[in-house]
Amino acid sequence: MSEQKETVGVIGVGWVGLVTAACFADLGHPVIARDILPDKVEALSRGDVAIHEPELEDLVRRNAGRITFTTDMTELLEGARLLFVCVDTPPTYSGDADLSRVRAVVQELPEDSEHVLIMKSTVPAGTGESIRRDKPDLSYVSCPEFLKEGTAVADFMHPDRVVVGADAGDEAAADAVEALYQPLGGQILRTDVASAEMIKLASNAFLATKISFINEIANVCEEVGADVGQVAKGMGLDERIGTAFLRAGIGYGGSCFPKDVSALKMLAGNTGYHFQLLTAVIEVNELQKRRVVGKLEKHLGSLIGKRIALLGLAFKPDTDDMREASSLVLSARLQGEGAEVVAYDPVASDRAADLLGSVEMATSAMEALDAADAAVLVTEWKEFAELDWSAAGERMTRPLVVDGRNFLDPEKLASAGFVYEGIGRTVNTPKPAAAS
Ligand code: UGA
Repeated sequence: MSEQKETVGVIGVGWVGLVTAACFADLGHPVIARDILPDKVEALSRGDVAIHEPELEDLVRRNAGRITFTTDMTELLEGARLLFVCVDTPPTYSGDADLSRVRAVVQELPEDSEHVLIMKSTVPAGTGESIRRDKPDLSYVSCPEFLKEGTAVADFMHPDRVVVGADAGDEAAADAVEALYQPLGGQILRTDVASAEMIKLASNAFLATKISFINEIANVCEEVGADVGQVAKGMGLDERIGTAFLRAGIGYGGSCFPKDVSALKMLAGNTGYHFQLLTAVIEVNELQKRRVVGKLEKHLGSLIGKRIALLGLAFKPDTDDMREASSLVLSARLQGEGAEVVAYDPVASDRAADLLGSVEMATSAMEALDAADAAVLVTEWKEFAELDWSAAGERMTRPLVVDGRNFLDPEKLASAGFVYEGIGRTVNTPKPAAAS
């Protein structure tokens, strides 16, 4: 008979919590997942996953027999020793991380030495230490999450690394967490708690820095006639640099980078250190979203009364997450310039409709492009690459596309009759055939 695996407890069933619950269940662990929202718990108990994340609903349904969703903290504490805290830590008005949900969870936990609190929520360095002061008998392990939305299940199941941070006295708790991740095969790095907390913040800040860096390089490429795609490739071939996260575009968004970069900047500031580099990373990202307006004006002149179609609204493809999406700033800026904005996203339209207010929502890309003066590709959904651009051009008032993610094939667009503008991209339109 196979050995019964240790029960895993999950507190907070958002993106990270649900992926954690579903993946540990798939690895054969009984899982008890607790959330304070009864409607969410009820829906998940029926196998209904409200977020768009590839593979996740299948995984939840397939492992329904192993996951108990509950609102009851007592049920969780009685059934599980290892408790992953996965509540959100949104930004406050001051730019710091809001730890109120983390603190509320900690208040509910007993003062015993049985349970292990495993922090997955992204928290400022120093949070673990303050929780340990509050609950000295509770074992505490920091185990930051590095999954990306859109590939969250695959990222969880095939991690580059798993960071397990614990301080003196909590070695056994850290061993138990390490054992949970051992079957996944990624490198496991043991650190102290503060270093684990910093690894998470520093990783996100570094990736965001890479993006803002390449976006500035793209802007210079436009001035000197270079192509940022070729530049990024050439840079990335240097092993010390690497090609990942050097895709230029109209800025990063999502629930993590904007929040975590700001939280790290504030964390440094609160200790008296001025993290200048991150100030620039944030500013470059803000301005990058707005550069589309200038690109449109270059071709259309004033945007007053112009109909602009936004293709894609989510902060990246394969998700319906609209948090800090570039589309939010862009649509507001375009409306501010007097443009009429129409938008389409394959999955995020419902979430976006509430946020975008007066933006007209189309039910397909073609419908959005009807009578449009320009198309702006905001999110690189595969269906936009596969669109019949010749047909699209005929429906538009002007065949102009601003490709905010350098996702479309400029030559294909040019042969469909389009004027194409990318980000730091030189356009190699085919030379006209020589007269015979
Ligand atoms: C990010 C990190 O990549 C994860 O490792 C981390 O676990 C997660 O935050 C988190 O802290 O929870 P995520 O926000 O899901 O993951 O998405 P990314 O794929 O990192 O993309 C973030 C943004 O950067 C998107 O708007 C994307 O379009 C943009 N991006 C990404 C670029 O503009 N250029 C690139 O080269 C890569």
